[in-house]
Amino acid sequence: MRFPENFIQEVVDRTDIEELIGRYVTLKRTGANLVGRCPFHSEKTPSFSVSPTKKMFFCFGCHAGGSAITFVQKAENLDFAEAVEFLANRAGLPLPRESDSFSAQQNGVSRKRVLEMNLEAAKFYRACLFDPAIGAPGMDYFKRERKLTEATIKHFGLGFAPNGFHALRDHLRRLGYSDDELIAAYLCARSQKNNNVYDIFRNRVMFPIIDTSGNVVGFGGRVMDDSKPKYLNTSDTPAFKKSRHLFALNFAKNCCAEKMILCEGYMDVIALHAAGFEYAVATLGTAITPDHARIFSKYTQKVIISYDADEAGQNAANKAMRILGEVGMDVRVLRLSGAKDPDEYIEKFGADRFRRVLEESRTGFEYKAERVLSRYDLSVGTDKIKASNELCGVIAEYHSPVEREVYLNYASSKLELPVDVLRNSVEQIRRKQRRESAARESREAQASVKNFGDRINPDAAKDPRAASAEESILGLLLIYEEYRNAVDEGKIELDAQDFVTDFHRRVFEAIMHLHRSEAGFRFELLGMDFTPDEVGRIEKMEMARQQLSQNGPEVLRSAIDVLRSTRERAHLRNGDLNTRLAYLREKNAKLHKGKADTQ
Ligand code: UTP
Ligand code: MN
Repeated sequence: MRFPENFIQEVVDRTDIEELIGRYVTLKRTGANLVGRCPFHSEKTPSFSVSPTKKMFFCFGCHAGGSAITFVQKAENLDFAEAVEFLANRAGLPLPRESDSFSAQQNGVSRKRVLEMNLEAAKFYRACLFDPAIGAPGMDYFKRERKLTEATIKHFGLGFAPNGFHALRDHLRRLGYSDDELIAAYLCARSQKNNNVYDIFRNRVMFPIIDTSGNVVGFGGRVMDDSKPKYLNTSDTPAFKKSRHLFALNFAKNCCAEKMILCEGYMDVIALHAAGFEYAVATLGTAITPDHARIFSKYTQKVIISYDADEAGQNAANKAMRILGEVGMDVRVLRLSGAKDPDEYIEKFGADRFRRVLEESRTGFEYKAERVLSRYDLSVGTDKIKASNELCGVIAEYHSPVEREVYLNYASSKLELPVDVLRNSVEQIRRKQRRESAARESREAQASVKNFGDRINPDAAKDPRAASAEESILGLLLIYEEYRNAVDEGKIELDAQDFVTDFHRRVFEAIMHLHRSEAGFRFELLGMDFTPDEVGRIEKMEMARQQLSQNGPEVLRSAIDVLRSTRERAHLRNGDLNTRLAYLREKNAKLHKGKADTQ
């Protein structure tokens, strides 16, 4: 839906941007602004800044920027209208017209509808589980095979999807949901053969996935035997993206432990919670992504990875360590021996033993070093050389010289080699890596210029001088009402045709359109016509201008001159003979007139 401009402005005015963003990012005050680590890209040093007076944010690292609405769009993955609604709800503002709130649409189905359907489905699956006539196989599986108590089953809202093709479909149809809605929610699918709509989850025990606001966003469903696929998961819907959710985060975030445990499976998490480790979470059938890492960094400082003991699990742990390390997280890894995963470990050895292992969890380095050493027989010369090379490679990855020194000493004592020898080898590796990464970066920079150029304003590459003149003009128009007035009244001669790049022309038109509208120009209203990335770019133009805003009229005049001469050159290149001649004649006449004036 499209909200009236004045409503959007009121929503922004009523939003305390410092408080809003402070819920996602730890902010520190520096002068008039607040700074923190950007939630939209991975960084260790803060380059994300919030201006409470301007009610804007901007990241100098990834150039994300804009209003509170843009922030919510990016942070919550919502479209413009949804983000406005999100903020309106927070501010307690009633929506202007009756509207289908949370209007994210997929085939016309809103996020709100999907969440309602999911909730009904979760209730239905649970009722089936607790109905002995239907749910006995599921209940049996949970209690006998997986040793879950009724309290745990209820706590997680577990359920059972009956063994038929239409149980859920018929139930939700009775509640008034259409087949298209059931399909959009990934609860049902349409048969290719006969077009019938049928349940996706059948004869499976069900795990609802609940987000941090308590919405049922999706499901995992497990077979009760060895058939394949073992788990089915909700795929992306208007309410769910698996790379952005963690199973049981809704509980873990309230648990007040200073750490979280990251596991691979639903059952691992449930077993850990049942044993008192309520700060365990799992990804949903995917490897961990940078999105997940940023979610962790919102809730905790320290993550202990507890993946399966097999080779695949350990490789995945290595990768998770790197991704979590990149957002500055303190990462540890558990090595569980005697069991294939945390679930089995607790069943075999008990919660106390697991707690001890947890306390002894290794830092990233210890874990990696032990993995290397365990593969070699250090009494054999060639093995010792290989182990030493690999270990030096691991040490070389640490940027802090102090850390490297500590690990060098450890390696020296394990390998029984002089620390100086190892230090030389580490430095050699680091020099080589620096050369390689410099070469790679310059290759990448060249490739990005050549092949992709500027994603948001692809025309800029064709005429960088004109594009930068346009940026100056737009920066001034964004900041100063007097320039918008002057353009509007024709005191400054500038119109859309003067713009060389498409993107900047669109920005110009949007600014002037808003300026002339009843509501007047307000930055946040640009979000109606531009994507969050584009809004970031517009905010960048404003920031750049703000920093050198003296001499506005001069800047504006010379920037407009640049555009004019660009246009004239294009005109000359492309025009037919007559227009070129006419143009030259006109220009000559102007020149003469100019001379006459000065004489
Ligand atoms: P696991 O095979 O380790 O399962 O997969 P698990 O959770 O330990 O399950 P149990 O103990 O055998 O019941 C780990 C996770 O990978 C995803 C699921 O999220 C699972 O929890 N997965 C696994 C799938 O999405 N599909 C599959 O077919 C298998
Ligand atoms: Mn398992």
